Amino acid sequence: MSRPLYAIPGSAPAAGDAAAAVASTAAAAASGLAEPPRTVAEVLADSQVEAVLDELDRDLVGLAPVKQRIRDIAALLVVDRLRLAHGLQAQSPSLHMCFTGNPGTGKTTVALRMAQILHRLGYVRKGHLVAVTRDDLVGQYIGHTAPKTKEVLKKAMGGVLFIDEAYYLYRPENERDYGQEAIEILLQVMENQRDDLVVILAGYKDRMDTFFQSNPGMSSRIAHHLDFPDYALGELEAIAQRMLGAMNYRFGPGAREAFAEYLQRRIAQPHFANARSVRNALDRMRLRQASRLFADRERPLSRDDLSTIEVPDVRASRVFAAPTA
Ligand SMILES: Nc1ncnc2c1ncn2[C@@H]1O[C@H](COP(=O)(O)OP(=O)(O)OP(=O)(O)O)[C@@H](O)[C@H]1O
Ligand SMILES: [Mg+2]
Repeated sequence: MSRPLYAIPGSAPAAGDAAAAVASTAAAAASGLAEPPRTVAEVLADSQVEAVLDELDRDLVGLAPVKQRIRDIAALLVVDRLRLAHGLQAQSPSLHMCFTGNPGTGKTTVALRMAQILHRLGYVRKGHLVAVTRDDLVGQYIGHTAPKTKEVLKKAMGGVLFIDEAYYLYRPENERDYGQEAIEILLQVMENQRDDLVVILAGYKDRMDTFFQSNPGMSSRIAHHLDFPDYALGELEAIAQRMLGAMNYRFGPGAREAFAEYLQRRIAQPHFANARSVRNALDRMRLRQASRLFADRERPLSRDDLSTIEVPDVRASRVFAAPTA
């Protein structure tokens, strides 16, 4: 399907080597392959990256600045591809990123799409995402951390390594913390193998800022900082509609309004986690709908019955029992 646009590490030619690029162009012509692309449209058609960008726009509610930044990164890679075809210097840009935001704001979801885009534009070979936390990288005993971290890096090579709550790697209160060892290995690989591995650090903004202050080496290797804001009420409602639709459910008369009221109350309560809380709420409403239908033993259930969330399925939530603040 999509041809890699950058050289695969270990195979000739290096992405930044103009002479090699020209040689490879000649080789492509000799072997009867199509001419190198000359227009943005040709690169887009060749890589099919536009489909992923459009899906990102369509599937994800809000997140305008995040979507724009991803388009910018895609544009850079496309233009680099065209530069390469002209024998211009097109060094693999550093694409390590940091996604900050509260729980449920879409960081993991966007990281998955990012991996696909990087793959389609030939930046990474495979385009998979390996999601880890401190415990996957750092060992309990002396000598355990390096092999653990290297094993994870091996798995992630050719794709994206997503480190959730990355700041837990650094524990200044613990003098001999093994996290430091993991950080050092990561730093090396982020520098030396950046054309085949993209690292995305994710977590709360304030903690990430503190982490970067204490780890300037890490900070200087991160090229893109993307902030994921909390969703507004209207966005959460739109997310709910989208999730329901994808599961072949819909709100019955009045249920959408009841859910909007639910959200208003839920946001004000502790541990509200944006789109994740919306998904969990919908799951509980489906449970209540099922129990309601289950109780009605003899009635033939229509397609409509089976796919409609009614007002009582929403209103039975505990959230309505608590007094509003
Ligand atoms: N903008 C959005 N539009 C539609 N669905 C979304 C959006 N953002 C998140 N979701 C959905 O919400 C759920 C949680 O999103 P995700 O796991 O990406 O968040 P996160 O920021 O990684 O959260 P956490 O910090 O808790 O890991 C997923 O099911 C995802 O599909
Ligand atoms: Mg996540």
